[in-house]
Amino acid sequence: MAEPRSYPQELLIDDKLYHYARVLKDDFFSINLLYQNVEGEGYVLKLSDFRFVGGWIFRPLACLISHHEYRVYQRVANLEGIPTLGPRWGWRGYFHRYIEGKTLHEVTPHGELPENFFDRLKNVIQAVHARKVFYVDLNKQGNVICSTEGDPYLIDFQISLAFPIGAGWWERRLNPIFNRLIQEDLYHLYKHKKSFQLQQMTEEELQLAKRSKLNERYSRYFSRPYLRVKRLLYPHGSNEIIWYKWKKMKDKSIQMP
Ligand SMILES: Nc1ncnc2c1ncn2[C@@H]1O[C@H](COP(=O)(O)OP(=O)(O)O)[C@@H](O)[C@H]1O
Ligand SMILES: [Mg+2]
Repeated sequence: MAEPRSYPQELLIDDKLYHYARVLKDDFFSINLLYQNVEGEGYVLKLSDFRFVGGWIFRPLACLISHHEYRVYQRVANLEGIPTLGPRWGWRGYFHRYIEGKTLHEVTPHGELPENFFDRLKNVIQAVHARKVFYVDLNKQGNVICSTEGDPYLIDFQISLAFPIGAGWWERRLNPIFNRLIQEDLYHLYKHKKSFQLQQMTEEELQLAKRSKLNERYSRYFSRPYLRVKRLLYPHGSNEIIWYKWKKMKDKSIQMP
């Protein structure tokens, strides 16, 4: 848990009072806290931090990451399928609307998602692309929410890339690179559709759900070596699982005489 003094217990947003309710996610790199008002409306406070021993040394980096995410968010904030953006909190935090629902991580594969869920999610992703943002992190199921009304939402712009907007020489040069990169977002979209709604995949979508050469190279030269090193340290588990294990060990040591 973050130190209680590093986040507010209550605060006003648009003249409405919100109270701290609970932690939504807490891992090595950030903490997401839910705030609610009496009407049941919620905001999420996302605080960037390096939450391991000596992590405070990297606070300036956490500050840059948080500002980067906020800037990307500002570019896409008023789009359908993106939670409305709230105010910043200090150097390393910002608020955005809480979406009541389930992330793809929490959805059981069969039946829970509306039939047109991925078509609508594709519209959200394409609207993000139209603002010249390469989303990047779509392989994570925790970044896609199906609201209780069945609407798709995209969150977490921490590692997204906002390309320059305009028709100048520099922008024209970057366009082909941007157009190539955004295909990777669509690859992840169809990969998710394949695991949740295989029966509804068209032939073309099945083709698009295949790894591209670029993705294969990324996996070979970056992702797999990284996983190999990580597995030397921790044989199993994602960053989240490792964080929870580490927290338990720490709790035990606190109880020791
Ligand atoms: N606006 C939101 N509405 C609902 N849940 C959210 C929201 N923002 C974050 N969460 C919850 O917190 C988790 C982590 O948020 P995310 O922005 O993806 O942070 P991280 O960078 O740690 O992955 C999400 O998977 C989701 O469960
Ligand atoms: Mg995330």
